[in-house]
Amino acid sequence: MLAVRQLLPEPAEVDPGVAHAAAARPAPPERPWVLLNMVASVDGATAIDGVSGGLGGPADKTVFRAIRAVADVIVVAAGTARAEGYGPPRTAPADQEARRARGQQAFPRLALVSRSLDLDPTSPMFAEAPEPPLVFTVAGAAPDRHRAVEAVAEVVVLPGDGVDPVELLADLHQRGCRVVLAEGGPSLNAQLVAAGVVDEVDLSLSPMLVGGTSSRVAIGGVERPADLALAHLWEADGLLFARYVRA
Ligand SMILES: NC(=O)c1ccc[n+]([C@@H]2O[C@H](COP(=O)([O-])OP(=O)(O)OC[C@H]3O[C@@H](n4cnc5c(N)ncnc54)[C@H](OP(=O)(O)O)[C@@H]3O)[C@@H](O)[C@H]2O)c1
Repeated sequence: MLAVRQLLPEPAEVDPGVAHAAAARPAPPERPWVLLNMVASVDGATAIDGVSGGLGGPADKTVFRAIRAVADVIVVAAGTARAEGYGPPRTAPADQEARRARGQQAFPRLALVSRSLDLDPTSPMFAEAPEPPLVFTVAGAAPDRHRAVEAVAEVVVLPGDGVDPVELLADLHQRGCRVVLAEGGPSLNAQLVAAGVVDEVDLSLSPMLVGGTSSRVAIGGVERPADLALAHLWEADGLLFARYVRA
């Protein structure tokens, strides 16, 4: 059993699953609560050789699962789904029970964001999904790609040149979604920041230096500074796990 030490707000041993399930996430009236979860090295890298796996380890996986277990929908940009070889979100049996008791589906639903619809319909995130993923896109993708993705997912075509995060969240809200977990990548994160819709950031800080050229946690678009307040700080296996909420 992984020991997770809470350093703040007061020293304690914590169970990440219990603590994340108990955290307050009051959704605004017009959209779901949005939490963004990322792992980064001490020097701000978000990927090694193009994927995030080398930054984490068992402690990060445990916290990652605990965060996923609270989400109704996991939103991920196509670049990350392709790079990381996304599968369907899996939930441990005990978490499934807890989710049902909270009135949630047993598994979070995956929602992909893509302009090109360059998504492999045979990949596990479609082929093994307990519920077909949502795919948010805009008009203009090649018709054959559209048809192929539509056969394995629920495709939502939004107006504009790119999926507007506010419209995406309004759509999810209408479906009864209350907690959205955004898993990146950095370009989608920046759009969420620019739209002013990030309510929570769960950041895993890995005790590594990486260098290189990977993006920081959010990159691109316009700046929109927003203050955050530290809700908790945990440590396990030398990683720090900070939970921030909108100040
Ligand atoms: N450290 C971490 O926790 C973490 C987490 C996530 C990702 N990552 C890393 O981040 C890298 C990928 O990030 P990235 O910034 O290059 O790409 P990304 O944000 O994951 O994906 C970019 C792609 O998403 C789609 N997209 C983004 N915004 C869109 C919009 N508004 N409307 C329609 N489509 C939109 C487009 O897909 P199409 O090309 O299909 O049109 C675009 O090319 C990978 O190396 C991954 O390992 C790290």
